[in-house]
This record gives sequence, structure tokens and C-alpha cells, in this order.
Amino acid sequence: MTHITFPKDFIWGCAASAYQVEGAWNEDGKGPSIWDSFTQTPGKIVDGTNGDIATDHYRRYKEDVALMAEVGLHAYRFSTAWSRILPEGIGPVNQKGLDFYDRLVDALLAKNIEPYVCLYHFDLPLALHKRGGWTKRETANYFADYACIVVERLSDRVRTFFTHNEPWVAATSGYVLGRHAPGRKNPIAMFRAFHHMLLSHGFAMDSIRSAARRPVKIGIILNLAPIYPGSNDRRDTAWARRADTVVNRVALDPLLKGTSPLQESALGRAFSRLFVKPGDLEMINRLDLLGVNYYSRSVVTHDPRLPFIPTRPVNVKGREYSMMWEIYPKGIYDMLTRIWKDYSPTCEIIITENGIPLADTVDADGCVQDEIRIGFIKDHLTQIHLAMQSGVPVKGYFHWSFMDNFEWALGYTPRFGLVHIDYNTLQRTVKESGRWFQRVIQANGFPRESG
Ligand code: GCO
Repeated sequence: MTHITFPKDFIWGCAASAYQVEGAWNEDGKGPSIWDSFTQTPGKIVDGTNGDIATDHYRRYKEDVALMAEVGLHAYRFSTAWSRILPEGIGPVNQKGLDFYDRLVDALLAKNIEPYVCLYHFDLPLALHKRGGWTKRETANYFADYACIVVERLSDRVRTFFTHNEPWVAATSGYVLGRHAPGRKNPIAMFRAFHHMLLSHGFAMDSIRSAARRPVKIGIILNLAPIYPGSNDRRDTAWARRADTVVNRVALDPLLKGTSPLQESALGRAFSRLFVKPGDLEMINRLDLLGVNYYSRSVVTHDPRLPFIPTRPVNVKGREYSMMWEIYPKGIYDMLTRIWKDYSPTCEIIITENGIPLADTVDADGCVQDEIRIGFIKDHLTQIHLAMQSGVPVKGYFHWSFMDNFEWALGYTPRFGLVHIDYNTLQRTVKESGRWFQRVIQANGFPRESG
């Protein structure tokens, strides 16, 4: 039986984000974020829930870190909540908020789990939103200052910082689709917000480097989805190219080439002059580490009525209750090899999210049987391994997520964790996938034929 084996120093981890797991939304001096106010708006979250308590990770972090150690994780990616550290987004630091991340980092290191810190995962301080939020250029400067505060405190122990998680999702879902906080529906605000998020990455590259007590790696995390045409029809292939520009190149080009697809037309150039200043793209084009989040692909057919990209919900049998993302493992191979070919990146590449929402339940024996998740991870790891054999040097794999958590507008129904959370008792139960992942980490791979 052949074995898929990863390189010796391959990093096996899991990812999560502050608002989705921490709870303690107004404790120890934390200021409100746009997600605190968004979830308090009736009708925004499908099951009417919010992240006030979430998984109560803020209090139970030691128990959670112990479980991570049990599963054998090498690394844990979490995000810091800006308004826990700076309740107003700027101004006085809330030491108690910063202390929480200090304790979390120490708890992880005590178990030999390397912390990967992401500075922004969708939760802008509400006070900054009231000043215009990401549509304002100043917010990029405020972000760099906030980054500096976190890095000063943690960089004696943390070696990797990510500036942003999925700026494209934050900008589109938050500023034009209205599905995420702050719930705006304004395309111009979306373009401005997206540019300022990328710009803040560039500014933070400098502030992090100067604040770091030791050399650190600085990265950004992108949601990337390969787009395929629904047929060979010329209109479909052109539409797929366009969709790829809107979803993927819009972030990859500035970060990896210092160019922007907006600069490719006279109209785009004129429009972008409203918010892009000379030198901005060079500022953005700096990166030590690219985090790739991959969940699914999109298949598109020409339809000028649709400004955004329809995903064809196929291969979802048995999962109709949840997010109808097609399971398409080859997409991660296609995306990784394409980044390698089109951009020849000099930065490192790491998978920062990959996972599947299921309606997991604890059975009478206290087990959570989630074979679909095991198959999902195995098939994606197989494709990542193939991409590595084709020459793409992937450094590691972070599963989304360690525990079930608050899935934004979809509330608590979709469960992504390797660990099940009972939201009544907050009891944690390692799922079968968690046990399987533990064996994968121990063996640094898995047999090709069996689970
Ligand atoms: C993200 C992630 C997570 C989601 C996950 C599943 O946007 O980085 O967005 O926060 O929970 O992608 O949808």
C-alpha cells in the first residue's frame, strides 16, 4: 500500500478567528466591533444567534489548547480582536485585552503549538466604522498602529503574523452584498474598502517590521477559488476569465505583482484614481507568506444580469441542509499550480483554511461520525501533495476549523470543526475526523487507499 508522505517540516495546524470562537464580547474592557452591532440587528443572522458567547474560548482556552495538543497540532492560527486591544480602534490600549492573547500564546507554546497570529478577521472596531471604516484611507494608518501594538507585545514569542484574512470577502460581503458586517450595499464603498485593506497590509509590513523584537514573517490570507467556464462557448470562457479577475486577480495581482486589473482599462484607471494614490501598489506588493484559503470552485456561464459569480451547487447530495459548496478537491491543485505558474512568487505559500460544513451530531456512544469530512480532507491533502510534487512548495495545512464555531450570517448551524461543540453545555467532543487528523499528523501523511 502506498503512502502519501509530506515533507518532514510540514506544518499541521487548525485555524479560527476571534469573533467566531471567543465570546466575552464586552468583557474586560473590550469595545464593540461591527460584528457585535451587526448581529444585534434583527434579521441579519439566519438562526438569530450571535457571537456573545460563541464557544466561550475566551474562558476555556486552556481546555481548548489541551485538546489541540491531544490532536497533535503543530500550529494554531487565531486572530486578535482589534477592539479588545483598542476599544475605540485608536487611542488607549486595553491591557486586559492584550493580556488574553499573551496567555493564549503562552498556553500554546507550553504545549509546543506554534501560534500564527492574524490581525484582522472581519471585526473592525465599531468606533472606527462610525468614522467611515474601511472606506476611509486613515483606517489603513490606524491598522498599522494597532498592528504595532500587538507585535510589540507578542513578537518575542510569535514568529508569524498575518495582516488580513480574506479582504475580498470582507469588502464584498460587508460593503456591497450586505451579508456581513457592516452590512453596506454600495459598490463604490466596496472598492474603496478593498483597496484600503490591501493598503493597510502594506503599511503594516513596515510597522510590524519596526516593532518586532525578533525577525518575523508577515503574510496575508486570501480566499481563492478557481473559476471554470460552464462550456467551451467563447462567451462562457470570456465570462470565466472576467470572474477570475474579479475574484482572484484583484487580490493576487497587487500583492504578488504590484499591479491591478483596474489599471487595464481607461475607465478602471480613472475610477481607481478616486482612491489609489501613486505608490500604493508598490506598498502593497510586499509579502513573506501567502495564506491560501480554499473551499470550492465556481463554474460560470455567461449571464450579464449577474454582477457576481454563481456557484453551481453540484455534488451536494446529503448536504442540502447547509452551505451548498461543491466538493472539488482538484480545485486546490489547479489554484496552487496556477499561482506558481502565473506569479512565480518568492514568498512562502501555506494553506490557511480548508474545510467542510456538516450537520454533525453526537451519537448515543458519544461519537461524532463525520466520514464525509475525513474524505474531504484526505482528497484535498492528496491534491495539495500532487501540487507539491509539481513543484509548488506548500509549507503546511491549516484545517478550518479546530472547533465548531459561529459561521457569520449562517449562525451556528454549519459545523466546520474537528471538535464538536454542544452549544447548550459548551461541551467539547473530538470528532472522528479529529482522531483521524491526529493519525495523519503522527504519520505525517496517510495511506493512499484507506481512511
Ligand atoms: C474566512 C473564513 C471563516 C469561515 C470559513 C467557512 O472567511 O476566513 O472566512 O471565517 O468561517 O471560511 O466559511
